[in-house]
Amino acid sequence: MADARPFHWEYQPPAVPRERYLVTGGQPLEGTIKVSGAKNAALKMLAAATLTGERCRITNVPEIEDVRAMTETLRDLGVVVDHPEPNCYEVSAGDVDWLFVPLEAAAKMRASFMLLGPLLARFGEVVISNPGGDRIGRRPVDLHVDAMRALGAQIDYRYGYYYAKAPGRLRGTEVRFPFVSVMGTENALLAAPLAEGHTVIRPAAQEPEVDDLISFLQKMGAAVERTYPDTIEVDGKRRLRGAEHKVMPDRIEAGTFAIAAGVTGGRVVLEDAACDTMAALVEVLGRAGLAVSCQKDRMEVDARAVGPRNLTPVDVETAAYPGLATDIQPPTTVLLTQARGVSRVHETIFEDRLEWTAELAKMGARIELKGPQRAVIHGPAELQAAELDISDLRAGASLILAALAADGTSSILGAHHVRRGYENIERKFLDLGARIERVQEGELVSPA
Ligand code: EPZ
Repeated sequence: MADARPFHWEYQPPAVPRERYLVTGGQPLEGTIKVSGAKNAALKMLAAATLTGERCRITNVPEIEDVRAMTETLRDLGVVVDHPEPNCYEVSAGDVDWLFVPLEAAAKMRASFMLLGPLLARFGEVVISNPGGDRIGRRPVDLHVDAMRALGAQIDYRYGYYYAKAPGRLRGTEVRFPFVSVMGTENALLAAPLAEGHTVIRPAAQEPEVDDLISFLQKMGAAVERTYPDTIEVDGKRRLRGAEHKVMPDRIEAGTFAIAAGVTGGRVVLEDAACDTMAALVEVLGRAGLAVSCQKDRMEVDARAVGPRNLTPVDVETAAYPGLATDIQPPTTVLLTQARGVSRVHETIFEDRLEWTAELAKMGARIELKGPQRAVIHGPAELQAAELDISDLRAGASLILAALAADGTSSILGAHHVRRGYENIERKFLDLGARIERVQEGELVSPA
């Protein structure tokens, strides 16, 4: 099945406001921030709530654009989504009457594809847009579709949409992935709890967010267990019940702010950071010369002793969990520009996740790309402020880090990318003493 990008002659993505960050760097960040709930856990729990008609209450949900897009998509399906207080969403998928997830949803957010598994399992059919690729790679969904077919679904692909049906119930089976896929695992994980019989998913992604999703499903009454590090087993049930769950802290956000301490020679305390989910990054930060200390739900990163542009070079390679997360690779690449010597980055997960470093080069970073997945970083670079363009969520956060390390004021266009996945990022940086504001077409829109 050619997994071509969706072909939609009529769809024009909505214009996004031309928002930019103005960041004046050159001083160490110091202070304490609270880490928000994990984007890549919360989005899947909102989808998982459609597995029951009973009310689910999900707390510690980050107030970010992707969550808003997911709740909008759910409401368009007829799901009741209440937002009784900040960071809390209550979902009741009692009578979903419109089993259609349009390109508009998929174009905003790839995670809309997480609705394939639960809607197929609960309602037996769904028409859902191919989310297509984005700036970090082609990002096909063939593994998701193969998993649904293995569970007994019939899926046709026409004009950018998957037409999926599961007459009767999905049937439990062994879902074998050729390699680890986080959302591939999670789509199978959300289809199996209502399938008939036993399902084995392997190799299953081991990311902590997957275990957080398993914990939520167990509270909903699903018979789901991680029986081996890379295997998840499910015994199907006829129905699940409503449940309440608090989303785990966002380890990528925590890592981003930990690196902010490193690139500015400051000291940052991260409340709610779960060090045990960040071991690979903590190891890299230590090798680079940062002092990292972990207590329960608290991480302190101190770069004052080593000072800016005096870090130790480190060679890093991304990998599926428990390896170094691909999502923290862009911030780590910025950190390594401040090391005294040569560092190497090998991005093994996505084929285009180093392209954005051309923006770093505008600031004076010396990065040699050896193909699309390998970079050689010559440091330390005395970064200079520049006019920069954000291409995706993690690259955007990374350019803010670089601007904080640079002398002068950088203007970074594309703030909307960053607001997809980081809650109150300006407010958090301001609380650490950073000089940052968000401007929309010339008008200041930063938090008060
Ligand atoms: C999830 O994406 C995350 N997104 C990504 O975070 C994260 O980078 C990625 O996992 C890896 O950890 C969410 O959870 C919403 P994959 P996902 O399937 O599941 C290929 C962020 O910034 N692949 O594990 O889409 C794929 O192209 C985002 O928060 C197929 O070939 O990633 C990639 O090369 C960015 N066919 C590799 O597998 C498929 O059907 C691993 O991707 C699916 C994936």
